[in-house]
Amino acid sequence: MPSVADDGAYSLDPVLWAREVLGFKPDPWQADLLRSRSRKIILNCSRQSGKSTTCAALGLHESIYRRPSFGLVIAPSQDQSAELMMKFDEFRSAVELPSDYLSTDTKLAVKFANGNRFVARPGSEKTARSFSAVTLLLEDEASRVLDDLYNTVRPMLAVSNGRHILMSTPFGKRGHFFRIWSEQRDMWEWYEIPAEMCPRITKEFLEEEKRTNPWFEQEYHCKFLETTDSVFTFEQVAATASDEVDPLNIEVAEW
Ligand SMILES: Nc1ncnc2c1ncn2[C@@H]1O[C@H](COP(=O)(O)OP(=O)(O)O)[C@@H](O)[C@H]1O
Ligand SMILES: [Mg+2]
Repeated sequence: MPSVADDGAYSLDPVLWAREVLGFKPDPWQADLLRSRSRKIILNCSRQSGKSTTCAALGLHESIYRRPSFGLVIAPSQDQSAELMMKFDEFRSAVELPSDYLSTDTKLAVKFANGNRFVARPGSEKTARSFSAVTLLLEDEASRVLDDLYNTVRPMLAVSNGRHILMSTPFGKRGHFFRIWSEQRDMWEWYEIPAEMCPRITKEFLEEEKRTNPWFEQEYHCKFLETTDSVFTFEQVAATASDEVDPLNIEVAEW
């Protein structure tokens, strides 16, 4: 049986492969993402725009056609990383892989006979620390991934010169996802995908959401809003870090 990895056209063009083999027809931005070879990519997208699905397809393409490949999925919780893994598995079942192609196959980890791996981890710093030589790091719901975990996983890309894809809907003006988007975007390939760019979200649905959902701009228009529980706005807090103001000097009365 010819190895799937011999298939030149599919190997070179993940979009063609996704359409013909997975039956997944990428939207224009999803096709750009699938074809990109950038090492650092940040996706700031509406809910339900298809970020996890596209990254699952991308991860499977790398697992089949690139060697070595070690895909690691992290997310704020196990449920969320498992969801991307489920999409990965759904796509995998559409590919006719030779029976000896897989060596390990659990709900959260797949090992291919060629040594490639694809693993989903929960959002805890300790469990992620054991991995190295990651070639593709997929960070789902990145706006809610703790900075400690982000700082733990980044070095795993160093030796392998691996790729890092952050995908999220915004969640307040905080954390590394916000910081990268607002201050370091020029160093990343970036995608801003409001709901209007998703052909599966109707105008009617969005109009209703706009009237009823106070987080509409965040959920569907990629906007970083103040968090509900903060007493001060991000700008107010940032403004207090000024060199021009002397620190308060309070004398404590002795009782
Ligand atoms: N190009 C596409 N064609 C058809 N369905 C798609 C496409 N992209 C995403 N979907 C579907 O849209 C839904 C939301 O996708 P998902 O990847 O979970 O979105 P997100 O992670 O951005 O919230 C899923 O049911 C998925 O199968
Ligand atoms: Mg998702």
